[in-house]
Amino acid sequence: MYTMGIDVGSASSKVVILEDGKRIVAAEVVQVGTGSSGPQRALEMAYKTSGLTREDMAAVVATGYGRFAFEDADKQISEISCHAKGIFYLVPTARTIIDIGGQDAKAIRLDSKGGVKQFFMNDKCAAGTGRFLDVMARVLETTVDKLAECDEKAEEAVPISSTCTVFAESEVISQLSKGVDRNSIIKGVHQSVASKACGLAFRGGLEDDVVMTGGVARNAGVVRAVARELKRNVIVAPQPQTTGALGAALFAYEEAKKMKKEGLE
Ligand SMILES: Nc1ncnc2c1ncn2[C@@H]1O[C@H](COP(=O)(O)OP(=O)(O)OP(=O)(O)O)[C@@H](O)[C@H]1O
Ligand SMILES: [Mg+2]
Repeated sequence: MYTMGIDVGSASSKVVILEDGKRIVAAEVVQVGTGSSGPQRALEMAYKTSGLTREDMAAVVATGYGRFAFEDADKQISEISCHAKGIFYLVPTARTIIDIGGQDAKAIRLDSKGGVKQFFMNDKCAAGTGRFLDVMARVLETTVDKLAECDEKAEEAVPISSTCTVFAESEVISQLSKGVDRNSIIKGVHQSVASKACGLAFRGGLEDDVVMTGGVARNAGVVRAVARELKRNVIVAPQPQTTGALGAALFAYEEAKKMKKEGLE
């Protein structure tokens, strides 16, 4: 039986297709702003990779900020629940999840059965999110996938004092014009994102294991900064950007089994 999870985020669309609630047969990511409809392209890529069609899907669950705009789903489930589901499946020892996406950051506390105990979210401000890193990468004339490499070469982290993305952008431009080392600025940018995310995680009371997910978990510079700030080991979820879609596909599997059972009765 095949099920699908689609995560329509603010920065990217993600699709995961699962076989029998276990084997991932497709996991695709399409960045927003890379052409025509992101969700549609992510779906097409997943069908192409798996050799499957919509008719093969026993159930589809949509999640993410744009989940209600995606009409072809059997059910919509929040991103918090889907990330929790996906992470607990991949890392059963996870008790604290830090998800940093394009427009928000979340800290989720799990119980020993993977249930959501508590969550905290920053969705009011771009600082501390992937958007902040996207803006800074542009100002620093690089791309987000190269930030970690630069961070690794830095001797120190130049602190960013502005809490607002727009002011922080001016601050970075001013530092660059003064000749401050670019890599050290990048390390400071990572430090700033990490300290905001960790603030959310501390509010819930930290419990090991701490797992990072979302697109920003692909940035090892931010992951290192989070580990420093929390003073503990941080696990990065495998393929962190598709964890929410994986959780949605797992929920779709439960949904499909339920529908099958109801159909038989
Ligand atoms: N290859 C990469 N290396 C480093 N960072 C990356 C990479 N790809 C994406 N990112 C970061 O991930 C962010 C997007 O994360 P993600 O795809 O989880 O967001 P989203 O789920 O669409 O957003 P949200 O959940 O806030 O609606 C980008 O803003 C970028 O900073
Ligand atoms: Mg997201």
